[in-house]
Amino acid sequence: TSYAEPYRPQIHFTPKEKWMNDPNGMVYHNGTYHLFYQYYPGATVWGPMHWGHATSTDLMHWQHQPIALYPDTLGYIFSGSAVVDKNNTSGFGKNGQIPLVAIFTHHDTTGEKKGRNDYQNQSIAYSLDNGKTWTKYAGNPVLKNPGIVDFRDPKVMWYEPQKKWVMTLATKDRITFYSAPDLKNWKKESEFGDKLGAHGGVWECPDLFPLDHNGKKTWVLIVNLNPGGPNGGSATQYFLGDFDGTTFTPSDTATRWLDYGPDEYAGITYSNTGGRKIFLGWMSNWLYADKVPTEKWRSAMTIPRDLGLKQIDNNLLVVSSPSKELTKIQSKSVALQNLNVTKPFDLSTKVGQVSIPCRIDLNMDKAADFSIVLSNDKGEEVLIGYDHNNSQYFIDRTKSGKVDFHKEFAARHVAPRFLKNSKMDMTLVVDVSSVEMFADDGLSVMTEIFFPTKPFNKISIQSADGVLIRKLNYAQLNSTMK
Ligand code: FRU
Repeated sequence: TSYAEPYRPQIHFTPKEKWMNDPNGMVYHNGTYHLFYQYYPGATVWGPMHWGHATSTDLMHWQHQPIALYPDTLGYIFSGSAVVDKNNTSGFGKNGQIPLVAIFTHHDTTGEKKGRNDYQNQSIAYSLDNGKTWTKYAGNPVLKNPGIVDFRDPKVMWYEPQKKWVMTLATKDRITFYSAPDLKNWKKESEFGDKLGAHGGVWECPDLFPLDHNGKKTWVLIVNLNPGGPNGGSATQYFLGDFDGTTFTPSDTATRWLDYGPDEYAGITYSNTGGRKIFLGWMSNWLYADKVPTEKWRSAMTIPRDLGLKQIDNNLLVVSSPSKELTKIQSKSVALQNLNVTKPFDLSTKVGQVSIPCRIDLNMDKAADFSIVLSNDKGEEVLIGYDHNNSQYFIDRTKSGKVDFHKEFAARHVAPRFLKNSKMDMTLVVDVSSVEMFADDGLSVMTEIFFPTKPFNKISIQSADGVLIRKLNYAQLNSTMK
């Protein structure tokens, strides 16, 4: 494969061909990052779900691996997680080999067609060869459905204080926590959230983990939602609070979004990475994921992002930034200083012909109206910027090329700014058909995809009132698709 097809991302993970949705089973083990994903090898639209598989040692270059899990008599293989069972609590380990255990939802279409309400159940599988091959447990399912139609996407972590596994499960309009000593015998601990957060759709793909902030532990509960996102369709919300092995107690009742753009969904974090939390999402939206104009494959993952906490006024908020591994694929870079933009400024006049993929970092002393424009000579463009009057970041893809495959695609999307009267910074990671924006140290994040009829080859900066950019760094990114 040349990976040179129109719209093929050059620095983002994509399947060689066919349909992909959620990232699954993200686990780091023996120096390798595993990425499994919702995969249908039969078409470029959703179908009987498998777990596709890829591996990486640097989170940037991915090796495709054989399909890890196939549908079976218990159903399709829906989303879930994977853990390193270091203490062999499951008993799957043989001759000292540490088992990797995958915990996923079996989605039984026969039960679904019959109108049953218990067709989603949790099952497990294990690998004794570092994730290469997987054996499903003979006693599946390990957690039976009590009669809740949406009962899926188990994310499992080890809770050391009580030496038990904790499963965070999406159960329709709430999260249900379960625990087990051995990954097999699950018991219900508590429920959370039916009256908190956003409920414009069903809760899916949750995640629970602690983050450290100034030596204090805060628990993050990620809950993906479809539909009901801040800019339409699917999106990722989160809650902060405390977790005691049984109950999650929120410290704040506001609805928070990890990414305000329309095209980050089902995002969760890697397991077994210590204090570091690496987040990856599916770079699409259920509104139009099966209609986007790529021919051979559908959808990419976001770049990996490190999550952290930042205090704003009296609240802690989650911040995301491109994982440091991204700098390893940076090549030529140009740093500009004190750029006074009073009329449209073409970046190529200072850095030479721009190339995509690239990364742009900029900062200024105070907030100001501006936009960064990706364009081609057909007048197609994507604008990324800040609207000072409304204190909002925005991405406008109204005139981005092919937009007519879905009525809500051509739009301008916004994200709030959380800082006031202070310095402003922005990082853009631009690929052939996507942009990821991280503003104010990653407090405001937006991910958007686009499909120009000719590749964008120009980057310019505009500002109605004029803007002084203190520093701008432009860096080419090397394709990882070799
Ligand atoms: C989220 C989701 C999950 C489900 C999977 C099915 O995008 O709907 O809830 O497990 O996709 O492919």
